[in-house]
Amino acid sequence: MKVLLTGAGSGIGHELARRLAERGDELVLVVRSADRAADFADATVLEADLADPGSIEALTLPERLDAVVHAAGVVELGPVAELRTDAWQSQLAVNLLAPAILTRLALPALRAAQGTVVIVNSGAGLNANPGWAAYAASKFGLRALADSLRAEESAHGVRVTSVYPGRTATPMQEKVHQQESKEYDAGRWIQASTVVATIVHVLDLSRDATVPDVTLRPS
Ligand SMILES: NC(=O)c1ccc[n+]([C@@H]2O[C@H](COP(=O)([O-])OP(=O)(O)OC[C@H]3O[C@@H](n4cnc5c(N)ncnc54)[C@H](OP(=O)(O)O)[C@@H]3O)[C@@H](O)[C@H]2O)c1
Repeated sequence: MKVLLTGAGSGIGHELARRLAERGDELVLVVRSADRAADFADATVLEADLADPGSIEALTLPERLDAVVHAAGVVELGPVAELRTDAWQSQLAVNLLAPAILTRLALPALRAAQGTVVIVNSGAGLNANPGWAAYAASKFGLRALADSLRAEESAHGVRVTSVYPGRTATPMQEKVHQQESKEYDAGRWIQASTVVATIVHVLDLSRDATVPDVTLRPS
């Protein structure tokens, strides 16, 4: 399976790249600097800053892709009364605009392989809590992107899945705890490997079915 993914430098994306590399899948990693892909010697590495639409548009993608997984993301908490413009812009750019642009560029390759798009959303894409406006807005938008795309692309045999994880033990969650002034205990949260097992299940799903949405919550 040839899989393009973002976010392979850290957290869920890193664990997914590790798992797919281990079983011999061919990886195309979109990272903002090549050193973030250093753990994956056999991967094709494409450099783009997902906050910069121009650098995504400049990418040359493969002609055939079995899957694209959007795992990169950023979070910046704060009440609407205080959230700076640049915090809104970076979250909307990386979490919403980048997956939209990258998906458009990848669609010919996905259609060629009747491939799968997996969009890593968030519980914040289903419920917006105080302090989470910008991140949740980007993830609500990401849900809309996935839902429209799914309806548009089914005729081309491209399947689209949104994965909505709850709090997952990654560097992002550690940062969220710092912003919330809470003590971080990785053992309390979903493990990245559990989210990855769900994504891999979606990627491996037999062609007679599709998983439109899957929600994971800490037990
Ligand atoms: N952790 C959670 O609790 C949780 C819960 C629900 C949903 N999610 C979602 O899950 C996904 C993965 O999150 P994570 O927890 O694994 O976060 P993470 O450990 O912080 O990893 C985020 C990844 O996104 C990449 N990234 C961020 N900005 C980028 C940019 N401008 N250009 C290119 N790459 C960029 C980072 O690149 P570098 O390697 O260069 O830093 C990193 O590899 C995100 O979409 C997040 O919103 C996370």
